Amino acid sequence: MTQSLTIRRPDDWHLHLRDGAMLQGVLPETARHFGRAIIMPNLVPPVVTATDAAAYRARIMAALPAGMAFVPLMTLYLTETTDPADVAAAHASGLITAVKLYPAGATTNSASGVRNFENVRSVLERMAEIGLPLCMHGEVTTADVDIFDREAVFIDTVLDPLRRSIPGLRIIMEHITTSQGVDYVKSNAKDLGATITTHHLIINRNHILVGGIKPHYYCLPVAKREEHRLALRAAATSGDARFFLGTDSAPHIDALKEHACGCAGCFTATNTMSCLAEVFEQDGALDRLEGFASLNGPAFYGLEPNTDTITLTKGDAVLYPARIDTGAGPVTVFDPGFPLHWHVS
Ligand code: NCD
Ligand code: ZN
Repeated sequence: MTQSLTIRRPDDWHLHLRDGAMLQGVLPETARHFGRAIIMPNLVPPVVTATDAAAYRARIMAALPAGMAFVPLMTLYLTETTDPADVAAAHASGLITAVKLYPAGATTNSASGVRNFENVRSVLERMAEIGLPLCMHGEVTTADVDIFDREAVFIDTVLDPLRRSIPGLRIIMEHITTSQGVDYVKSNAKDLGATITTHHLIINRNHILVGGIKPHYYCLPVAKREEHRLALRAAATSGDARFFLGTDSAPHIDALKEHACGCAGCFTATNTMSCLAEVFEQDGALDRLEGFASLNGPAFYGLEPNTDTITLTKGDAVLYPARIDTGAGPVTVFDPGFPLHWHVS
């Protein structure tokens, strides 16, 4: 039985770091294990221009504790007034790695997102020309569509038509949560990848709702039925290079999670690699963890994998804090519901 596994240092292809005291508190949790991360731009106000992204990048680097190495891969938040030239210049200078599209109203801090896709067509066409990937939050937001169907409806009514009308645009379907998402990625050979979160490999909707409401399992897109979780597990552990890790670790202080109108987001940065090792071991796929966490993401983005490594060693239960104390307040760490045995060094 494998007791020790050395893999290239992983990257996180979808991460929320926030700002200020929260950034200060959560950044070390990611930088401890991960080499790079795609940084989500949904601050208040959002990171919209190259100038915003440069300033945010500087704040992240300033918050990084001495002696820790970490490379934030910046993104711009696409709005209906985004200037294609600003995006192209930010890409050409190496400042940004992707652009993020939130349908307006889809999730936390998405009010400035896209309502009418025609209004962002010129930006998307420019991105296709210059090879800049689009990170897509794939949910429709109309009130008549059930929250559990929003991803599947988005694929049929928005994503597929968009991909056909802008050939060559590289898209990452972020945090997929359904078998329809898995199938759509698999049915498209080119220009389409998908991230999968740690928590969606572990929880289904029962975890949120059975035996009392569990706000720390509530995130968007919301976890679906068990059959969808199993489809995500099969995709993540399959070795298919179109699927890679994006934790969507999304910290909110406990007071805003345990609330009458609780915020969406699971905070998984602290124990993600131990959780994933457990998941891949359960599925007899430990040899594919490196592909999912460390190789497939850089390959999709046209980047080299990290040159250094981490080692996962199986032993006594991993001790991790139930919550971390940030200057903004306590943030509960994701509880996978089973003991973790894989230590990261
Ligand atoms: C994210 C957040 O809190 O910023 N929440 C979440 O549930 N994932 C937003 C997002 O990625 O949808
Ligand atoms: Zn997110």
